[in-house]
Amino acid sequence: MSNLCNLDGAILPEQEATVPVLDRSFLFGDSIYEVVRTIDGVPFAWAEHWRRLELSADSLAMPLDLDERTVARRVADTLAAVDHGESYVRIIVSRGTGLAPNIDVDNAPGPQRWVLLVRPITQTFGKPARLALVPRRRNDRRALDPASKSGNYLNNVLGLAEAKAAGATDCVMLNSDGFVTEASTSNLFARLDGTWCTPPLEAGILAGITRGLLLQFLPQVGERVAERDLRAEDLLRAEELFLSSTLRDIGPVTHLDGRALCDGDNGGPHTRRIAPLFAAHIRERMRTVDAPRWRELTT
Ligand SMILES: Cc1ncc(COP(=O)(O)O)c(C=O)c1O
Repeated sequence: MSNLCNLDGAILPEQEATVPVLDRSFLFGDSIYEVVRTIDGVPFAWAEHWRRLELSADSLAMPLDLDERTVARRVADTLAAVDHGESYVRIIVSRGTGLAPNIDVDNAPGPQRWVLLVRPITQTFGKPARLALVPRRRNDRRALDPASKSGNYLNNVLGLAEAKAAGATDCVMLNSDGFVTEASTSNLFARLDGTWCTPPLEAGILAGITRGLLLQFLPQVGERVAERDLRAEDLLRAEELFLSSTLRDIGPVTHLDGRALCDGDNGGPHTRRIAPLFAAHIRERMRTVDAPRWRELTT
């Protein structure tokens, strides 16, 4: 069966869903998005993802024209129509179809276009990565702020391509001041002198939901954490590195610029210890926090 999607409230096979050529997401990347995963068929950390969607909308001066309950119901209806296991749900909000192929937002009277892509999750959790520090810089915060999850990911597309050309599976981009930011679609943690360090939001990164959960969770299992500026040299001397994202949870970094950081694909001893603890923590939070909230929102 083909993957299903939801186009402005209508559930249909992906191949049958089309977007007009004057859609501003197509023309200018003038859109925002979120990626949510399900656990037992229910979106995990929905409240956090919805909040970030609102922040992305604010940063593009594009107030959302649907409310949370309406979108949650569309997500629930679409999830109910699929016949696979756990899902990846991509929520895309385009500023809508323009009156002309012209960048001026005055040419975008609305309504917004809301697309939900729902696909089965293929095994991504704990996926190992080989990283390369690439020449491409992360977008400056004063330009298109990396904190906005906009549909304009071309810089990351190109950063990832540079990493692949160097034989790696993902990139690390520095900012224009030479500080570490993140990978193409994941945040980065480095263990330095026994502390898990991750770049601060001020470095110009996406405020990852998984990153935020980890900052709270790691101290609960006896790990020290710090948000601090990192240089490439810090990564090169790190005891362990991992990536965090909704679709990875904790993904061990096995190589940096071709140099092995650990034996095998499961990361160093600290990564191997915390990854299953974090997975259990997420399931528990799902049971006690997210599932009841979702029921309340969608019934
Ligand atoms: C640039 C970037 N950084 C970090 C992340 C991880 O964020 P989250 O943990 O919310 O999935 C993503 C996810 O897509 C991303 O695109």
